Amino acid sequence: MKNPWLEIKAEDYEGHMESPDIDQLKPLRKIFSTALKDFCPKRIALLGCSTGNGLEEIDYKKIEKVYALDINNEYLEILKKRHSKNLTKIETVVCDLNSPRIFLERIDLVYAALIFEYIDFKKSLKIISQWVKSGGILIAVLQLPCANIPEVTPSPFKSLEKLSSIMKLVKPEYFISAAESNSFCLISSKIHSLKSGKQFWEGRFEKTKY
Ligand SMILES: C[S@@+](CC[C@H](N)C(=O)[O-])C[C@H]1O[C@@H](n2cnc3c(N)ncnc32)[C@H](O)[C@@H]1O
Repeated sequence: MKNPWLEIKAEDYEGHMESPDIDQLKPLRKIFSTALKDFCPKRIALLGCSTGNGLEEIDYKKIEKVYALDINNEYLEILKKRHSKNLTKIETVVCDLNSPRIFLERIDLVYAALIFEYIDFKKSLKIISQWVKSGGILIAVLQLPCANIPEVTPSPFKSLEKLSSIMKLVKPEYFISAAESNSFCLISSKIHSLKSGKQFWEGRFEKTKY
């Protein structure tokens, strides 16, 4: 089966995420920019980065490298056009995070927002853990269930409905347990309530120091 994300045009994705009833891009950008301030990472990996939401928050003078990973090459091409000034620091990687064939080294911060709902989180945590340096940080943002809003909120962008077939919410407690099995220790967690009524769980993990 073709991954439905490959059938969603960037303009539909962004139109959906920015529509007033959904409005998720801004809060996700804010969580990332707070992480940049809190941890001052030099080497960053953005998992499921789509068209590069949040990349504008980075002070490129202060960082060494940002790896921007996504399965959809169209999204990454748009990212490159929008951030053409900083391509000496940004490296895009087209890959399926269920089985990425790349190895990233000495990562200080992995920011993974609304991606674990679409991949095998246990399998991918095992791989991510090898990329993060000892004392490095993983930030996971998970969507929480909401009684009266469907997991994929309806919007005029009908192609997004295809995601319902693969999207699975991940319970934070299961995620924490899988992260701990892969040398990540939970250092804090927080719930972000969006205007739409949806909620995101943000978990910050530190890679165990040896
Ligand atoms: C909801 S969006 C992520 C939002 C984004 N992280 C942000 O902060 O604005 C999910 C992204 O994950 C990507 N994705 C989904 N499944 C994937 C997979 N198996 N491997 C890599 N990327 C994937 C999609 O193409 C999409 O860009």
